[in-house]
Amino acid sequence: MRIDKMLANLGYGSRKEVKQLLKSGAVKVDDAVVKDAKQHVNPETEIVTLNGEIIEYKEFIYLMMNKPPGVLSATEDNNDETVIDLLELEDQVYEPFPVGRLDKDTEGLLLITNDGQLAHRLLSPKKHVPKTYFAVIDQEVTIEDVKAFAQGVVLDDGYKTKPGDLKILKSGIRSDIELTITEGKFHQVKRMFQAVGKRVVYLQRISMGPLALDETLELGEYRELTDEEVELLKEYQVK
Ligand code: URA
Repeated sequence: MRIDKMLANLGYGSRKEVKQLLKSGAVKVDDAVVKDAKQHVNPETEIVTLNGEIIEYKEFIYLMMNKPPGVLSATEDNNDETVIDLLELEDQVYEPFPVGRLDKDTEGLLLITNDGQLAHRLLSPKKHVPKTYFAVIDQEVTIEDVKAFAQGVVLDDGYKTKPGDLKILKSGIRSDIELTITEGKFHQVKRMFQAVGKRVVYLQRISMGPLALDETLELGEYRELTDEEVELLKEYQVK
């Protein structure tokens, strides 16, 4: 890759600004000053420094966020804060985007990446990637609901969902449940409960395929996925 492209991709300025930076002699590749913007570098094998500081280059970034309520799962919006606004600038330069959407009021696991291929595979309806949600429901959730979800329920637009695996964690005037679904229809969890006459009052995604929400992340916090988590995601095949 050309050195000017690498530096521009990393957010060190426009191609023109990066050219100036190179001219100033601030950039070295394996200890040799590089002034030519056209010079090619291999970020995997060569060490690039700017004013003596090593520059880490990676093509893809994979972040796990504990999405807070009140923030949109989008890259930009005129009115509301987005999950991308919550990222440090050094992560924003990779131009990542959220993989799928959580509603504005939904919390929990959100994968944010610039790896379009991976995102596509995880979101493809053909792949049936399971997503598990924890929810609080406004009334008693019953074994009948468990059976209905296992068959699939008919949503307000007439669509019959694929089977959902509903577990009752605590049943009472309000119930705690976990629901695993393999689709991603608009407001799906809320509409599945609506189909059985109940209302979701709190919703949190706790897993997506092989990825589980890191419970040490506070709402609005995020971290890079470990190499192992990235591998798990890339190799993930639903049986
Ligand atoms: N189902 C919903 O209803 N909302 C979400 O944010 C995710 C799944």
